[in-house]
Amino acid sequence: MPIKLDHLNKLFQEQVKDAYSAENQSLSALRMLRDAATDEELRSALGDHLAQTDAHASRLDEICDMLHFSPGGHKCRAMQGLIDEASEVVNNDEADPSVRDAAIICAAQKIEHYEIALYGCLRAYADLLSHDRASGILESTLTEERQADQTLTEIAMRSVNAAAIAD
Ligand SMILES: [Fe+2]
Ligand SMILES: [Fe+2]
Repeated sequence: MPIKLDHLNKLFQEQVKDAYSAENQSLSALRMLRDAATDEELRSALGDHLAQTDAHASRLDEICDMLHFSPGGHKCRAMQGLIDEASEVVNNDEADPSVRDAAIICAAQKIEHYEIALYGCLRAYADLLSHDRASGILESTLTEERQADQTLTEIAMRSVNAAAIAD
């Protein structure tokens, strides 16, 4: 039965749960992508964001504690789909390593964009609901997701994409 979304607060809670599931799933995805990457800068960027992702999940725990609801009980199917696609990239033994690096960036950016959309909505809901502390926490995470996305774009544009056409 669908959840009764009778107030923005209910939608906020449901999407916090979605984010919690997404963050926890993306921990293993980022580890997998980092380990498969050959470009040193890319490996390091994915490793850095892995550590941030751990903090993002903890921040959601903190918000749930603060607002007295549980983050569990929901599986983000979108993140599952993005991870399935990322796994295909990593497990493609026929791929040239430099092309695989470009594909790893693409897979990671799809994950980041999902998170950016989600945290943008969550921060807007928190503002409307006067959850001021939660809003500040969500803003911090949103900034880090955007930075991670930007770093991946820079690595792609600086070296990885060009390496993928120069065989
Ligand atoms: Fe995150
Ligand atoms: Fe992220």
